[in-house]
Amino acid sequence: MSKEKNEENLMQKIVSLSKRRGFIFPSSEIYGGFGAVYDYGSYGTELANNIKSTWWKAMVQKNQNIVGLDSSIFMHPRIWEASGHVGGFSDPLAECKECHFRARVDHVLEEEGVFADEKMTEKEINKLLIENKDKVKCPKCGKSNFSEAKNFNLLVQSNLGNFTGNWDKKPTYLRGETCQGIYVNFKNVLDSTRVKVPFGIAQIGKAFRNEITARQFIFRKREFEQMEMQMFVHPDNAMDIYEDWRNKRWQYYLDLGLKKENLKWHQHENLVFYAKAAWDIEYKFPFGFKELEGIHARGDYDLTQHSKFSGKDLSYQDPKTNEKYLPHVVETSVGVDRTFLAVLTEAYIEEKLEDGSERVVMKFPKKLAPIKVAVFPLLKNKPELVKKAKEIFENLSDKRMCEFDDNGNIGKRYRRQDEIGTPYCLTVDFDSLEDEKVTVRDRDTMKQERIEIRDLESFLEKNL
Ligand code: GAP
Repeated sequence: MSKEKNEENLMQKIVSLSKRRGFIFPSSEIYGGFGAVYDYGSYGTELANNIKSTWWKAMVQKNQNIVGLDSSIFMHPRIWEASGHVGGFSDPLAECKECHFRARVDHVLEEEGVFADEKMTEKEINKLLIENKDKVKCPKCGKSNFSEAKNFNLLVQSNLGNFTGNWDKKPTYLRGETCQGIYVNFKNVLDSTRVKVPFGIAQIGKAFRNEITARQFIFRKREFEQMEMQMFVHPDNAMDIYEDWRNKRWQYYLDLGLKKENLKWHQHENLVFYAKAAWDIEYKFPFGFKELEGIHARGDYDLTQHSKFSGKDLSYQDPKTNEKYLPHVVETSVGVDRTFLAVLTEAYIEEKLEDGSERVVMKFPKKLAPIKVAVFPLLKNKPELVKKAKEIFENLSDKRMCEFDDNGNIGKRYRRQDEIGTPYCLTVDFDSLEDEKVTVRDRDTMKQERIEIRDLESFLEKNL
């Protein structure tokens, strides 16, 4: 089997496990689905929450000079003009003249090994398309007959507030990135907290983009979640602080359990005019290395634009030197969904066991596992076992996510917990009623040991 085939297989296996075990469901499935939108199931919600709290801890909790924010999805329409999104936030779209399929031109070019930088103008991308017109194929019908590419704006519009006739009848948008909420609250945060430059504002929240192509599962969604941090810095220190964050974010992914060989740097060469530097951390997804996080040195572009469009002075006065200046911005930006897919890809393991059977196990780092402990009574129809198992579940679930399971036989329960990545399974059997011990089974080694019920809490404290 070729490598590609294997990788394709891995993606299918991850998609199928995600649905079967309640990590991710396609949106609106009973209505035939809804392109590039997905729902997180019960275990998916837990995993996503764990990913978000890991990020929050690394960015806000552990950094004295970074504070949190939760700004709204709806914002004043002028914000998206100031940010440049109304004018320039677009992807090149072309239509196949044979089957009328609409494709993202940079993606169809990429399929043929022609690299089109996302910062190219409409003219530049059309030149590339013409040069390669016999090579690029429609992903649907396979023919090479595309229309001219047109830029398609990615902002999602809403009709919010239309009845008031406010805002010059301009459309209101669902935010295309969370960081704009940070820039427009820069002064509020400065005035209400004790931060001083250099300081950061971090935010986790939904963003919306009219992505042209719906593909690669949760990698490219139309409704997704971002975890963004904007550091406001003195212009003279900007590049040092930028380098510092590049290192910190790389280390963060290693700490998250992603293997070094599955990560790599990609430097953007064609920068937007305001950016000073842009690097991506890429992860080796089942479909190849692709962007996981972007780390950008944005200069003073954002505060300059919002000062200009709002008419408010957003400059900062250093309390010690009295120097007045517009801070520069260093940004780290990653999607929850992309991190989720990287974590699933890394965790998915198929193992051949000594007895010749196979198991699928999600070897999540324990801090990310959706369920930390599963508690089983050996038999469902023995009230004394069920009572004891329920007591243990009640006690342990105070501090962590636990699951009580009395369905099927123990083998089936282990298989299920392996597939959702539960680090420990505890079984209450008849001996437990006598010796006050339970069998603790380790997800990774599958080793079993007897542990006293009264020691369970300290065992879990130590091992989780
Ligand atoms: N504020 C900068 C910004 O939004 P971006 O490169 O457009 O930069 C940052 O997006 C990150 O957001 C990406 O690295 C990716 O992890 C995530 N992201 C962007 N578009 C996405 C989409 N359609 N679906 C899922 N995640 C997305």
